Amino acid sequence: MSIQFGPDYVRAIAPYQGGKPIAEVAREFGLDEAKIIKLASNENPLGMPESAKQAMLGAMADLGRYPDANGFELKQAITGKYDVPAEWITLGNGSNDILELAAHAFVQPGQSVVYAEFSFAVYALATQAVGARAIMVAAKDYGHDLDAMAKAITTDTRLVFIANPNNPTGTFIPAADIAAFLAKVPQNVVVVLDEAYNEYLAPELQYESIAWVRQYPNLLVSRTLSKAYGLAGLRIGFGIAQPAITDLLNRIRQPFNVNSAAQAAAIAALNDSAFLQKSARLNAEGYKQLTEAFDAMNLEYVRSYGNFVLVRVGNDDGAGARINLELLKKGVIVRPVGNYGLPQWLRISIGLPEENAGFIDALKSILS
Ligand SMILES: Cc1ncc(COP(=O)(O)O)c(C=O)c1O
Repeated sequence: MSIQFGPDYVRAIAPYQGGKPIAEVAREFGLDEAKIIKLASNENPLGMPESAKQAMLGAMADLGRYPDANGFELKQAITGKYDVPAEWITLGNGSNDILELAAHAFVQPGQSVVYAEFSFAVYALATQAVGARAIMVAAKDYGHDLDAMAKAITTDTRLVFIANPNNPTGTFIPAADIAAFLAKVPQNVVVVLDEAYNEYLAPELQYESIAWVRQYPNLLVSRTLSKAYGLAGLRIGFGIAQPAITDLLNRIRQPFNVNSAAQAAAIAALNDSAFLQKSARLNAEGYKQLTEAFDAMNLEYVRSYGNFVLVRVGNDDGAGARINLELLKKGVIVRPVGNYGLPQWLRISIGLPEENAGFIDALKSILS
């Protein structure tokens, strides 16, 4: 028998399933790459902002050197934008890095982590990777049931993950509910409030999570530049928390976890409010375009506050995979979510108007 390496809990991990790359679909289905529509990874359909591209090009001359391990200038930009001290910021190789760092820093094997059913897949992965026990709390209307999550916390719970808005369902938790939840959580339990899609929220729904960070030493807010800021490929995100948390995250992160091009691009993107507004506007229009089409096709969908929509494409458990395959054959890449326990649904990232239209046409012809 061959030797098995590593602990059982690592061998039990099912790897993260990302959106299929365009080149792979082109190869597999014999399609022209240029004609493929990818609405599978909640990326910004506008691509990266020109301001970030210029900043990145400027940083290229120095790529022979290591990046600034402490990200001084980027932290200055974040400090300016969110009014927090630099000592409260942890930079991450994507916000995914922050989520994993939190699990590694705060949870030991055998302790537990609480998260919601149908919430972001990385919470389960990060929990498993540290040999912790997952306490997955049943979703309510496809979103977080914060009352049940508070009750699910046990004496060995060290971490809670909350996504607001949530991926892949797009649900949103109003600020008052989060405030009530934070007041209930024991002080030795770290709460990660993952706000990867925050920038897509309408102004009336925006809330000041940083004020909670000031109030609660056990709160870590995580943000990314992969979504509305259009920098998914550069891998850059950050966490904001008081020093008791930030200090530990910074001890275990890789010294150079964020590369110099990403740092330079992120500074430019954070200051590019015109691009952010354009992205949010395009997203709102695309949401209307997609959901009006779903209404016309009589398809159920979950009200989404992010840059994607979860739509039910059939009533049998083979529906998601089947329709996904048909869409791939037509050169449209979306995200099946059977791995989330949602086999009748597909998650569609909101694209450019013509991309949304191409997807709608393909779906119509498949379902008719
Ligand atoms: C809820 C949520 N959190 C975090 C991430 C991680 O994104 P990134 O590592 O690109 O910042 C994603 C990406 O899809 C997400 O949906």
